[in-house]
Amino acid sequence: MPEIEAIDTMIFPGVFLAVVGLLIVATPASAQNADHGAQDYKLCASCHGFRGEGNQLVSAPAIAGLESWYLERQLRNFRDGIRGHADDDQPGKTMAQMTRGLESDTKIADVVAYIGTLPDANPKRTLDGDEARGSPAYAACAACHGANAAGNEALNAPGLIVIDDWYQLAQLKKFHGGQRGALAADIYGQQMAPMAKVLPDEQAMKDVIAYIRTLQE
Ligand code: HEC
Ligand code: HEC
Repeated sequence: MPEIEAIDTMIFPGVFLAVVGLLIVATPASAQNADHGAQDYKLCASCHGFRGEGNQLVSAPAIAGLESWYLERQLRNFRDGIRGHADDDQPGKTMAQMTRGLESDTKIADVVAYIGTLPDANPKRTLDGDEARGSPAYAACAACHGANAAGNEALNAPGLIVIDDWYQLAQLKKFHGGQRGALAADIYGQQMAPMAKVLPDEQAMKDVIAYIRTLQE
């Protein structure tokens, strides 16, 4: 048997490589990534939903429609203990555990490529807030997140219009309370944390989030 195998691999490598070469040329790299990522996404779907629409009952936000560079960074942060490390951050700790299977950056890129194939989520309004009071407060946020809250990759600030209002509130509270954006290794979270502290209380947070929602329409 070993002899036959040896002959096979001597005769066929040329043909085999030619076929593999054709497949690589025929399939765009992103589609290949998405195919691999679809497997890993099955776990994610149990909380974030099959279409990445999120599930507030388990504190899991919509992720379909978020920028790929932002998704990749957050998954690396959860995996590397930069997010979801604080004892009093149960949702963050839960999510950090879910990145155990994403040990390589390639795996992260693959699952993010798959999320990129899902239609954008359309988060519903769940919070009350006074958008008129939030409007002047948003001026400070616009410097990084953009006047229309569509995000600015050059400044590492994600789009906010696609993010659930309840999730924005939860994150602003974490930036405020030091569960997120406090570690030295959290380079981008550290840029955001002082901005959350400009908002004095929960009502001020809800007001600015209400204003961000008006930018969706
Ligand atoms: C057991 C439920 C659960 C599973 C499974 C899960 N997540 Fe999460 N995920 C959460 C929760 C809860 C949060 C909110 C964490 C927080 O509040 O900081 C979250 C947050 C995130 C965020 C941050 C979004 C943002 O805007 O900051 C991303 C990205 C994410 N999850 C992607 C994934 C991916 C990809 C998978 C599959 C590999 C996955 N999640 C599996 C519960 C889950
Ligand atoms: C100096 C630039 C800067 C300003 C000003 C700023 N942000 Fe941010 N913001 C960021 C960066 C960078 C991130 C990404 C942090 C990370 O990667 O963890 C972020 C993240 C966020 C997030 C988390 C999104 C998510 O999906 O997890 C929210 C919510 C947010 N900002 C809201 C605001 C609001 C509201 C204001 C105004 C009060 C504001 N930001 C002002 C830079 C800024």
